[in-house]
Amino acid sequence: MVNAIYSPAADRYGNGMGYRRCGRSGVLLPEISLGLWHNFGDVNPLANSMAMAHYAFDHGVTHFDLADNYGPSYGSAEETFGQIMKKSFRPYRDELFIATKAGYDMWPGPYGNWGGRKHLMAAIDQSLQRMGLDYVDVFYTHRYDPDTPLEETLQALVDIVRQGKALYVGLSRYPANKAAEAYRYLEARDVHCLLYQGRYNLFDRGPEEQGILEQVRENGVGFIAFSPLAQGLLTSRYLHGVPEDSRMAQGRFLKRETLTDAVLDKIRALAEVAADRGQTLAEMSLAWVLHREEVTSVIVGASSVAQLEDSLKALRKPDFTGQELERIDAICRLPDGGQQS
Ligand SMILES: NC(=O)c1ccc[n+]([C@@H]2O[C@H](COP(=O)([O-])OP(=O)(O)OC[C@H]3O[C@@H](n4cnc5c(N)ncnc54)[C@H](OP(=O)(O)O)[C@@H]3O)[C@@H](O)[C@H]2O)c1
Repeated sequence: MVNAIYSPAADRYGNGMGYRRCGRSGVLLPEISLGLWHNFGDVNPLANSMAMAHYAFDHGVTHFDLADNYGPSYGSAEETFGQIMKKSFRPYRDELFIATKAGYDMWPGPYGNWGGRKHLMAAIDQSLQRMGLDYVDVFYTHRYDPDTPLEETLQALVDIVRQGKALYVGLSRYPANKAAEAYRYLEARDVHCLLYQGRYNLFDRGPEEQGILEQVRENGVGFIAFSPLAQGLLTSRYLHGVPEDSRMAQGRFLKRETLTDAVLDKIRALAEVAADRGQTLAEMSLAWVLHREEVTSVIVGASSVAQLEDSLKALRKPDFTGQELERIDAICRLPDGGQQS
């Protein structure tokens, strides 16, 4: 399976995937992108990771989202992707839009983390080496570093573009005021910021509330949503308990305490709305994020091809009626009875 020669589906661009323009740029991204945060590390079976990447590309997913610290272990999701490139995707490099990021703890010592030039310059080289690429399509500063001058972080991004190691740059999880500064700094150096990456889903309206969506629209920047399924909460995954092989059972990034009775009631009620629309909860949750015009793409995670198959059906979405949106909002506004993860 792993060694079989891969030949992508001939109809990969005729399967219903839509492509949206990324802000004011020449880039089109698929409405659904695949994220490699989980399930692509060296602890995961390579055959399953490859099968998901193949399924995605076969269905028009041209954008793959990585970061240097994805795994576990750190770096291993990029290594897995490097193997997929080598075994399958190499002839299709120009059909792929590959992102990576740096700015979280990656290697020991004072230069292995955050947004300093010393860190970012080494990080991009390491990422390229792990993935076996000459360049990435977009390189992100993974988070705002309050202790490094913002100009130092941004100038490193500009120089990475000038060196040909990334075609575009992006910001991930920046506070709105720092993002505004960043857009100006980059624009003044002819390196337009391509993308803002932020968490956005039915349960987390941060990008609306903090003005991030308005800001990307004004600045001609694309918005790409991460954790659009709230790490699996906004699917049928936890409707009947916590499966042993689920992210919540691992307990690292999605805690059991998140699933209070009140949250479970909300998930059930949302699943009913989805059923009334003829969708699964995962499909409806993704369609909801995509119904905002500022959203260029949603980055889904998956642990199996079946999940990806389900999520991609979100593209066969009937538009939301005003009444449906009100019903959804009323459910989401109900108290959680605990702390959201
Ligand atoms: N910039 C940042 O700081 C940042 C932060 C987080 C994520 N990201 C990016 O965003 C990507 C997506 O994040 P995420 O993995 O949290 O996204 P997500 O799509 O909200 O959650 C993915 C998880 O939901 C479950 N799932 C997915 N589809 C399902 C379906 N159809 N039915 C039932 N369960 C389903 C799976 O959980 P199980 O594993 O339990 O099966 C899967 O691992 C990441 O891979 C990464 O690229 C970026």
